[in-house]
Amino acid sequence: MERSLVLVKPIATERGLAGAIIGRIQGAGLKLTALRMLHMDKAMAEQHYAVHKGKPFFNDLVEHITSKPVIAAVFEGEGAIERIRKLVGATDPAKAEPGTIRRDYGLDIRRNSTHASDSPENAEKEIAIFFKDKEIFR
Ligand code: CMP
Repeated sequence: MERSLVLVKPIATERGLAGAIIGRIQGAGLKLTALRMLHMDKAMAEQHYAVHKGKPFFNDLVEHITSKPVIAAVFEGEGAIERIRKLVGATDPAKAEPGTIRRDYGLDIRRNSTHASDSPENAEKEIAIFFKDKEIFR
């Protein structure tokens, strides 16, 4: 079974879209195994987005993700990473396929509504930033 970390970003959390976003992923057959609302601080954001450190958009990205609360979730299922990335769509909402989460709920590339893990290795690292083992259910 594969796992993925999903973050409903501040822009989507404040617009009341968390239920819709999580519901789409559950509706596609992925199992929700952990859920938490929190306000990320700078250190947590820099850890989560460490692979993007040094890129021109890094500071803006950290600024957005720490601006207001996020909702973090763990989903589990066969091929969870790819299935969720398909549902979420391309990074830039303007380039995402119609019917994808980012196309429907994203405003622009930074405020694209949702983050989803891009590999099993990164998923495990990201999950450990947000959840203790005992907070994840099976
Ligand atoms: P996310 O899935 O949260 O992972 C990294 C984020 O960086 C990505 O979604 C986008 O919000 C953001 N991002 C990626 N590329 C760019 C870019 N060229 N300009 C601004 N933000 C970007």
